[in-house]
Amino acid sequence: MVLKQPEPWIWWKHGVIYHIYPRSFFDSNGDGVGDIQGIISKLGYLADLGVDGIWLSPVFLSPNADFGYDVSDYRSIDPTYGTMDDMNMLIEKAHEHGIRLILDMILNHTSDQHPWFLESASSKFNSKRHWYIWRDGYNGGPPNNWKSSVGGSAWEFDEISGQYYYHSFFKEQPDLNWRNPMLPQVFFDELKFWLDKGADGFRLDVINLIVKDKKFRDNPYLFGLPFFQKHVFTRNRRKSLKIVIELRKQVDQYKDRVLVGEIYTMPPGNAEVAASYLADGKGIHMAFDFSLVFRSWGARNYYKCIRDWYTNIPEHGWPCNVLSNHDLFRSIDRFPWRRNKEEKARVAAALLLTIKGTPFIYYGEEIGMRNTKVGYNDIKDPLGIRFRPFFSGRDKARTPMQWNSGMHGGFTVGQPWLPVNTDSISRNVEDHHGDQSSLLSFYRTLIAIRKANPALQQGRWVPLITGRNGVLAYARILHEERIVVILNFTARKKKISLPEHSFGNVLFSTHRNAEDIFFFQGLLIYPFEVSIYKA
Ligand code: NOJ
Repeated sequence: MVLKQPEPWIWWKHGVIYHIYPRSFFDSNGDGVGDIQGIISKLGYLADLGVDGIWLSPVFLSPNADFGYDVSDYRSIDPTYGTMDDMNMLIEKAHEHGIRLILDMILNHTSDQHPWFLESASSKFNSKRHWYIWRDGYNGGPPNNWKSSVGGSAWEFDEISGQYYYHSFFKEQPDLNWRNPMLPQVFFDELKFWLDKGADGFRLDVINLIVKDKKFRDNPYLFGLPFFQKHVFTRNRRKSLKIVIELRKQVDQYKDRVLVGEIYTMPPGNAEVAASYLADGKGIHMAFDFSLVFRSWGARNYYKCIRDWYTNIPEHGWPCNVLSNHDLFRSIDRFPWRRNKEEKARVAAALLLTIKGTPFIYYGEEIGMRNTKVGYNDIKDPLGIRFRPFFSGRDKARTPMQWNSGMHGGFTVGQPWLPVNTDSISRNVEDHHGDQSSLLSFYRTLIAIRKANPALQQGRWVPLITGRNGVLAYARILHEERIVVILNFTARKKKISLPEHSFGNVLFSTHRNAEDIFFFQGLLIYPFEVSIYKA
């Protein structure tokens, strides 16, 4: 029998990635907005936490109509965040700390201030006209019924040429025309610029939206209601996958780089669609499917979600997992009911860090940062500005990182661009750091355990208890190494029974001593217990 050896350690598969929203991480110059030097000064913190990679939300030049998701030059750094020298320094210093850097690349659209768009809009006959999606109107209105993801028609009328341009998001974010054969090469050059600088990969913004229907057919309405559109002709067109595969080929010319795609589906959390972009190892390396985010709390729900996700991952694909990001509410505030939030955060973190797939941690999640109430007049997110008072937008999960109990949570000496949560008095990195029982210590310990045990990084995921009684238990198996994880999602004691051969030493437990050895027959599990055993 030939024993399959563990794979060599691959940072993006076996490591842990931390998502930084740069405006809110750390402000080094007192202007109230986070910046690149701020991130550099916190690399020690990230290394200590055990992070192997950073996904950095966009820092490219941008008029900030959507806080960086509207780029006007992919090869420049927005002065809000610093300079190109700062960026070079970040790449270098992060690497010195053993941390890779994933940049956020927005291929679907640019800013309407990008020189490409300005040229494209300048005349119907401009050579860049077809870099974007321009159409004549129909019957005195827009070309078809396509709706923008942020409300209203996705078509904006341009007085100069008398045509409409398409925007999946705000009108300041015109969509590029990926059906134009020029486009892929144009964009590969932008990516190459960063790969040559040493960027370790890209998070690809809404990558499943990049190609639209060739015939511009109307999207069907959900329930016949004009507000709810099924994005049949504006998402997941076959050609997007072809482009992704081409992109992968280009990126693979560089060693050890990664592509992780945001696959946004409606309804969200469609594992099958997300996994299809992995193209059995030929597409993006990983895809966010968001299924854990959109499942309600419960062992059985989470079990089903993980099972579905893995079932869809092709043989040569690799999962990644995430609890939240800059577009969603803070994970801890999504877990239901006011009580036991922190216990639930621990169960969820343990799950994220011990199931198969690369964990992505959203900044502040490791100290249990909550949604922050942002007053009506302080809203900065353009979505919130558009829909207040009915929806206040995404600011509540983008507030400054809470570093200490001092003024503005130690984030800035100036006036923070968004309010700092008042709970920073007690919920902050400095206080958590010295406290062995804190959530931060919990994260740090679990990441260390994950690092020390290849089975947790590479092993198969074998469910043992599938959540029916509120308990989820599974093994991670790599050759002789067998780790068993037991998670009680409930506030009640639970009796569980695992197969007789399951026993082992405690690697970590919220309730048990390290010296204990456990036999799993008729074991009583404590409320919200997290226990990890090595068999
Ligand atoms: C997804 C990004 O995560 C979000 O923040 C942004 O508004 C849209 N894409 C448009 O780029």
